[in-house]
Amino acid sequence: MKTFFTSAFCLICTLFWLTNCQQTATDKTATDKTATGGDAASAEGAQFTSEALVRGEYLVNVLGCDDCHTPKTMTPQGPIPDMSRRFIGHPATEVFVLDDEKKSFIKKENVSIFSPGMTAAAGPWGLSYAANITSDVTGIGAWTEAQFIKALREGKTKGLDDTRPILPPMPWPSYRNLSDDDLKAVFAYLQALPPQRNVVPPPM
Ligand code: HEC
Repeated sequence: MKTFFTSAFCLICTLFWLTNCQQTATDKTATDKTATGGDAASAEGAQFTSEALVRGEYLVNVLGCDDCHTPKTMTPQGPIPDMSRRFIGHPATEVFVLDDEKKSFIKKENVSIFSPGMTAAAGPWGLSYAANITSDVTGIGAWTEAQFIKALREGKTKGLDDTRPILPPMPWPSYRNLSDDDLKAVFAYLQALPPQRNVVPPPM
């Protein structure tokens, strides 16, 4: 009788343990989903997978978007990106204009010139200011993924049909070769970064 009770007790324990294990596995899947949802939540409700965000971060870092879209801090070694203002484009407060002196210098010397922080560039095409590409509405916060793909594939500002062409030195003719998935990943990553308000001046 004692043996029967011991066996029955063990059986109950095993069943309890098995059921509990399954429960834990189900909970974990639910938690993982929530974690992905959490990443996506920062991108204003858009559904981006964690893989896209990781890939996007990798691409943005190797494609050098910071070179032109992030203002710099000057060091003895040269300019380094100011990550507290990452991707705000040319700061609205920083004056860099195309005056007659610059115009004649560009023409006479046959050169193009950058502002010290490399967020503005002047050359034979005029003067262009790097765009705000943060998730703010003054950046690409209100853009759809399709607009972003069109902008980088076809060089159309705002990624719309009836807009002006994107000016140099934005290297969209190289970026147009990125796959759809890569462009989507770049968009996902930029949308997941904090919004920063900065109204970039129009080109001259
Ligand atoms: C060599 C400088 C340079 C680099 C590198 C660069 N950009 Fe740009 N980008 C610019 C400039 C300048 C403009 C604005 C051109 C204009 O006004 O027509 C611009 C415009 C854009 C626009 C269009 C904004 C709009 O309002 O239509 C997007 C989107 C953009 N860049 C995304 C990126 C991304 C993403 C990367 C990295 C993968 C990148 N850029 C790398 C210089 C650069």
